[in-house]
Amino acid sequence: MRYPATSRLWSNFAPRSSSRPVARYDRKDHFHQRAKREGFRSRAVYKLAELQRGHRILAPGQRVADLGCWPGGWLQEASRAVGPRGRVAGVDLAAIEPPLENENVFSFVGDIEDVKVCEQILTFVGGRCDVLLSDAAPKLTGIRETDRAAEERLLEAVEVILPRVLREGGDLLVKLLECPEAQNFQRRIRTCFGSAKTVRVGATRKGSSERYLLARNYQPERPGKNDD
Ligand SMILES: C[S@@+](CC[C@H](N)C(=O)[O-])C[C@H]1O[C@@H](n2cnc3c(N)ncnc32)[C@H](O)[C@@H]1O
Repeated sequence: MRYPATSRLWSNFAPRSSSRPVARYDRKDHFHQRAKREGFRSRAVYKLAELQRGHRILAPGQRVADLGCWPGGWLQEASRAVGPRGRVAGVDLAAIEPPLENENVFSFVGDIEDVKVCEQILTFVGGRCDVLLSDAAPKLTGIRETDRAAEERLLEAVEVILPRVLREGGDLLVKLLECPEAQNFQRRIRTCFGSAKTVRVGATRKGSSERYLLARNYQPERPGKNDD
């Protein structure tokens, strides 16, 4: 499977030189090979599957949005978890080719920094979502300031989409990278959910600073303090 440059995972945000190139990862690692063998679109499927086993994020019949869904591993896992009565809408800058055949999945090309994607998500799933997923990651340059700014823009996009798409009481799962912008995002998110914690998954590539923020019970009107 070929990954476009946009899907390259983040390395740590601590380069000694601001122009040090980002470390390359082994594209043919165990999870990659396994995904290929088992018919999944990406190794990322095992991250969501692991989170699902540990935290029961998705349930049958739910409406789900998946931001940054290409090449589709999370769509496959979400489709399985919500079953035939559920609906999953995915958006990415890249088109999923060939499209998934799962009847409960709809994916489209769009930029999550464009608020218009909300309409398409709501139309397909038929109302506000029970769960908002975001595995979106920017195209990395290896230049710390540029990469941090790109991560910040993606997280801000998630914050703009959140109140338009997620129902009250719903859950959010979002990929975070190690940087002050992600910490600030986390602080803001905590104020409008009943609980929030960060989790790491075994399927994350060695050396990556990636982790996931799992925030549950969205309370848009009642901001308050939450646990970790
Ligand atoms: C790590 S990949 C997602 C993998 C996916 N969860 C899976 O299971 O196959 C990150 C994705 O975020 C997408 N992305 C980055 N910026 C985006 C944006 N502004 N709008 C939509 N998608 C974006 C990239 O195109 C890339 O495909």
